[in-house]
Amino acid sequence: MAQSPESALSGSIDSYQVEDRKFAPSPEFTASARLTDPSIYTDGEDYENFWATQARDLITWFEDFHTTLEWDLPNARWFVGGKLNVAYNCLDRHVEAGIGDRVAIYFEGEPGDTRTITYAELLDDVKRFTRVLINLGVETGDRVCIYMPMIPEAAVAMLACARLGAPHTLVFGGFSPDSLIDRINDAEAVVAITADAGYRKGKPSGLKTNIDVALADCPTIRNVVVVNRCDTDVEMTEGRDLWWHDLMADADADADAVPVDSEHLLYLLYTSGTTAKPKGVMHTTGGYLTQVAWTHREVFDLKPESDIYWCSADIGWVTGHSYIVYGPLTNGASVVMYEGTPDTPRESERNGDDPAGWAKDRMWDIIERYKVTQLYTAPTAIRAFMKWGEAEPAKHDLSSLRLLGSVGEPINPEAWMWYHRNIGAERCPIVDTWWQTETGGIMITPLPGITETKPGSACRAIPGVFVEVVDDEGNEVTEGGGYLTITKPFPAMLRGVWKAPERFFDTYWSRYPGRYFAGDGARLDEDGYLWLMGRVDDVMNISGHRISTTEVESALVDHDAVAEAAVVGAADPLTGQAIYGYVILRGGNEPSEELIEEIRRHVATKLGAIARPKQVVAVTDLPKTRSGKIMRRLLRDMAEGRELGDTTTLADAGVMSQISGSSA
Ligand code: WT7
Repeated sequence: MAQSPESALSGSIDSYQVEDRKFAPSPEFTASARLTDPSIYTDGEDYENFWATQARDLITWFEDFHTTLEWDLPNARWFVGGKLNVAYNCLDRHVEAGIGDRVAIYFEGEPGDTRTITYAELLDDVKRFTRVLINLGVETGDRVCIYMPMIPEAAVAMLACARLGAPHTLVFGGFSPDSLIDRINDAEAVVAITADAGYRKGKPSGLKTNIDVALADCPTIRNVVVVNRCDTDVEMTEGRDLWWHDLMADADADADAVPVDSEHLLYLLYTSGTTAKPKGVMHTTGGYLTQVAWTHREVFDLKPESDIYWCSADIGWVTGHSYIVYGPLTNGASVVMYEGTPDTPRESERNGDDPAGWAKDRMWDIIERYKVTQLYTAPTAIRAFMKWGEAEPAKHDLSSLRLLGSVGEPINPEAWMWYHRNIGAERCPIVDTWWQTETGGIMITPLPGITETKPGSACRAIPGVFVEVVDDEGNEVTEGGGYLTITKPFPAMLRGVWKAPERFFDTYWSRYPGRYFAGDGARLDEDGYLWLMGRVDDVMNISGHRISTTEVESALVDHDAVAEAAVVGAADPLTGQAIYGYVILRGGNEPSEELIEEIRRHVATKLGAIARPKQVVAVTDLPKTRSGKIMRRLLRDMAEGRELGDTTTLADAGVMSQISGSSA
């Protein structure tokens, strides 16, 4: 369970003091920056008024709202009485305003194929696909599952759902059939949208086959719409499965945007908590769109007429929802969408299956060719770039870049400095943005034309958002370490956990009465800057993605040979944290290399490759307290190669030496 702030935070504090420098926005940047006046923070103090002003400025409402906020903890209703449509705001109104010829999406497939889609073309596709959904009997309020690669059709599907007011739930393409089953059944989705496969690391990676396996256990799905991305052989079930291109050819581009209530459910997105069952995080329409559009415009200093903005996240995560699709398109931005991974075989440099021979400059090549102005990526990617060396970005002209962003986990100062020097040419401000699936949009970040940044610090809350660091008792800490809490409602806040209102309250609002508890440790320095220190609960952060220890433990004990399991996330130089599993084998099983391999693979099959433990260690006993709780802290100490902390509460004092014997 949760540790005290000291034990949770100690290991990492030192590394955060490596760079004791501040970086002020450069005169070149501030000369044309959108926001340069810190009084915006004063405006944000009257937060209802601030957000109401932004909502009317950024969004076209079919009907204006009469009340900005109704707040009855933990339930918030923003912009009450307002009617709007997200797809209308992302598309129609831009075309009506005469910018239909502006590029909405520059798509680059992994094999190197490209497509350029204007706002007018995207609107046409979205209208058509909305008609397809209507023809399939999908109604406003029905849930639709989207399980797709990073191709424009994924955005079309999302926007068509929004146009109809049919909430979508995206399942990351790397997730397994089991994950699909849980999510589809919890959401009771009626239609699934997928592709035969998507290109990943030089090969088609199958999606439809996973849908086929999952659907044997998903009674609510009536139809599957399949994009033919890779021309692979797939089985099409008569009467259930339909090709995207056939349906689109037969549909008219005539479906109007349905005006929905400001609090209408826009989407569900499942995320890991401290239990094995992922939570369906609920995001609604008006508040969500206001905060993602505002933060996208101001945090990235967006100039929609001239910028080419690239967020390299997958559309299946919240970052893709908010900062590839909804924020940027609401703002009329041109976005780059790239299907593959940063290291990937290029046609000309293909070298079999050996990643050592793959191009490691694909990202820099894309930035040069599209003249990308803002890049938003993750620390885990930046650390991989560091490993590949500065010669890779140096091969390319990156002078179009004017701002860099980071998200997903704490960025270590070394990676920040590398990003600053080698990608930003010491010229681009870096925005380290803290937020969560639950917050929907950015919460803590520098504002690039205003904030003096410190490498490794996300700086402070945006205007209109209020955070405090508290100690174990919930008392505010003004300097030093503690827990990050949010003290006032904000527009993009999750509205609940799907079908589990008590879980919503218990998870976020019960630990510190009156406050939202984010689950993160944080430190406030002498200047009031926030340093996010990672999770303090049983949630791991692997390459910027949340996976719960319990989820992996359940997958481990699901293997026939495993009797008991304990999982910890230990610091990893590349992925932030890596998963270590400690298992007690059932009698009759020998801890052979093959068996350990099979157990690791079993977890990947159950949960997806991202959850495959880096190491599984067979042990004869697990460190437990007298009341039977596993002492993860000790396992983490061991996985990270540290001296063991306090062992006095261990039921069996000898157990740790046995374990360290077996993992050696
Ligand atoms: C958790 C949320 C936000 C979209 C991607 C992840 C960690 C996220 C930062 C940052 C330090 C960060 C936190 C948070 N996190 N951004 N800039 N600095 N930590 O969304 O999967 O919901 O994960 O990611 O621990 O709680 P998510």
